[in-house]
Amino acid sequence: AALTYDPSAALKFLKAGAREALAPKLEAARMEVIDDVAILTSKGPVPADKNPLDAGFIDWPARLLAGDENGLLRKIEESAKRFREQVDRMVVLGIGGSYMGLRALFEGLCNPYHNQLTREQRGGVPTLHFEGDNLDNDSVAALLDLLKTHCKDPKDLAQRWGIVVISKSGGTLETAAAFRIFRDALETYYGAGSELAKKLVVPVTGETGKLRSISNGAGYPDTFPIPDGIGGRFSVLTAVGLFPAAVLGIDIRALLQGAAAITTTFKTAPLGQNPVLDYTGICHLLERDSGMDVRILSTWGKKLEACGLWYDQLLAESLGKHERGALPLTVVNTRDLHSRGQQHQEGKRDKLITNVIVDKASLAPVKVPQVAADRDQDQLNRLGWKGMPDLLAAAIAGTNKAYADDDRPTADIHLPKLDAYAVGQFLQMMMLATAVEGRLIGINPYGQPGVEAYKKNMGEILYGK
Ligand code: PA5
Repeated sequence: AALTYDPSAALKFLKAGAREALAPKLEAARMEVIDDVAILTSKGPVPADKNPLDAGFIDWPARLLAGDENGLLRKIEESAKRFREQVDRMVVLGIGGSYMGLRALFEGLCNPYHNQLTREQRGGVPTLHFEGDNLDNDSVAALLDLLKTHCKDPKDLAQRWGIVVISKSGGTLETAAAFRIFRDALETYYGAGSELAKKLVVPVTGETGKLRSISNGAGYPDTFPIPDGIGGRFSVLTAVGLFPAAVLGIDIRALLQGAAAITTTFKTAPLGQNPVLDYTGICHLLERDSGMDVRILSTWGKKLEACGLWYDQLLAESLGKHERGALPLTVVNTRDLHSRGQQHQEGKRDKLITNVIVDKASLAPVKVPQVAADRDQDQLNRLGWKGMPDLLAAAIAGTNKAYADDDRPTADIHLPKLDAYAVGQFLQMMMLATAVEGRLIGINPYGQPGVEAYKKNMGEILYGK
């Protein structure tokens, strides 16, 4: 079923006629984003103001499903199956766009207690451990220790672990240093140059760069590409997210189908029926006309937190340029109603709250039990066997009403349920919306020159000038 976007509670905050006046500009931005793909695929020169041009993510899901890129999708599935059958623990190394997307898929689509389950309970797939996403000594040391403690016999599948190392540039210190450390541990465990030591390392990287060179040198049989023309934070539906997701048993075809479906809607549906354009329009107008430059993504469910963090990165790194760009902030409710909720209800009027609501829980409703009258001190017998989904629905309605009563704008994104198809739609919707907004306000959404400053300084400190 299709994701929907309902901005009705935000409409009264728009200036009269503003939406209508924006319509032709949004249409132009849509055309520009679609034309970006044409410029990219023509392989002609990229205009200076569009450099870099990472619009390749737009048609990518449909292309993979159609068997393009030499049947890459099938290769990912086959290789993921082999990897899954060979290891009981998967260490994924990556940062930023080479990390946040997989985390969103893992938390959104796997059991919240995945790593604590037995292999059988996990459906015969390995546990997942992230590293290379920081320079945190104790975290690296703890994972090395965990692997040492639990993995003593490399011949036993239950004690085997492997590495997926993800870096488009291959030059990111966090990931590169972690790879050296974990590669060293892996080669010590399986024997340097052994078949297992080769098979159990899967690099995902650009066509050129340091990691590509390492991979060529080591002869890792399964190395997957991150295509030119797809930037890091737009790469979740390339092998960056798909390979480890497939290892975890996530339905990667459904992810791509959801993304391809929302792309078609984006390209063809009119305003008012186009979640990408409608979402972009509301966000833009409230920021431009009412100074609402804080965008709260209010996720209703713990499993959505990492999807929100992924979006925080996407928006911040894409549009936070030239002293502009809204501030993204993910909250998880009802948890954060008891922390940030105070500020959202009564703080500065600079926030647009977009709810992300899953309409139907995946598992059977857990009900609040009725108890004997003399044990009803908490007075919850009044709930009359209501379940967690009923309580959550009341919290969503109650919160939206409280915001509306105080003239604070909200809008709702509805996912029919939390499955791979819906998550594919959500991720692609937000990537498209970010690209459209960039074109609308004249900021190139691709590239992240600001991230280079700290890297340059760090390099000088570590290696000298
Ligand atoms: O969006 C981006 O391009 C960045 O967040 C990168 O993904 C991040 O810096 C990691 O880069 P790399 O994959 O080259 O290691």
